Amino acid sequence: MEYKQFAKSGVRVSAVGMGTYYDPLWIVTAYLGWRRGAQAKIQAIRSGLELGINLVDTAEIYQSEPLVAKAIAGLRREDVFLATKVWSNHLRRDRLIKSLEASMRRLGVSYVDLYQIHFPNPRVPIAETMGAMEEMVDKGKIRFIGVSNFSLEQMVEAHHSLKKYELSSTQMEYSLANRSIEKDILPYCEKNGIAVLAYFPLAHGKLASNTALSKIGAKYGKTPSQVALNILASKPNVFPIPRGSRVEHVKLNAESVGWRVSEEDKAKIEALFAG
Ligand SMILES: NC(=O)c1ccc[n+]([C@@H]2O[C@H](COP(=O)([O-])OP(=O)(O)OC[C@H]3O[C@@H](n4cnc5c(N)ncnc54)[C@H](OP(=O)(O)O)[C@@H]3O)[C@@H](O)[C@H]2O)c1
Repeated sequence: MEYKQFAKSGVRVSAVGMGTYYDPLWIVTAYLGWRRGAQAKIQAIRSGLELGINLVDTAEIYQSEPLVAKAIAGLRREDVFLATKVWSNHLRRDRLIKSLEASMRRLGVSYVDLYQIHFPNPRVPIAETMGAMEEMVDKGKIRFIGVSNFSLEQMVEAHHSLKKYELSSTQMEYSLANRSIEKDILPYCEKNGIAVLAYFPLAHGKLASNTALSKIGAKYGKTPSQVALNILASKPNVFPIPRGSRVEHVKLNAESVGWRVSEEDKAKIEALFAG
């Protein structure tokens, strides 16, 4: 597995991660107590961990934290980099702390590596939320602070409202099919040593059957999805997090890094997906 430095931390995180958002219906049924296909999903996460993927992304709203807990059971805590998220209506100090404690309980851990604000909430001052985050870092319950779905302006405000620690990451939709963060957010993150967790990196799976990517992939003995993930992961601060719900896909995704599409092929592909 290829590992890259996470933000400015010196911590090494796998160049590709695993997401654990399934679908809205799954969330509703899981909320009611039925976690459909749980065993296969746990097995998929477990297989990724065995292949060296240490970045696992979840959220309090996904209902997948208990599955992640089962998948990491028996592993050394330091061998997993757990990222979870606080929902946007839980951003007041006391509520954030409650959410964090509940996530840690469901995950069966005493700290979270990366705690992310899932969506911004203009009704709660960002300074209050970031103050609570810093308090939790001081208490050893969070290692790194992140945001998700923030505009550039919101991210800069979040960054500047931190007093003691850095903003370590943002999580945004990013794939060859949606390159909008390249305009502003990605350059800001590159300049400031902020990691980008790229969600929907396969454009909901669409890129896995793309003909142009298939042709290029054939040269490297790789699939279209592996080429799509490789191109994102080739940027030093970008960590794609394709959903890890099926062992076969997780294995393919693990092999999407540790090699490089040539600069020439990358330029060709980026031109094709220029919009
Ligand atoms: N921050 C946010 O607001 C936010 C929003 C959405 C998602 N996320 C995070 O980002 C993660 C990724 O999003 P996503 O999983 O929906 O999008 P995605 O990775 O773009 O696409 C997922 C689809 O691709 C398929 N897939 C995965 N690996 C594949 C492979 N190697 N070959 C072919 N198909 C493959 C999956 O099928 P299978 O499931 O059958 O493997 C699924 O249908 C989520 O799980 C979540 O952790 C965050």
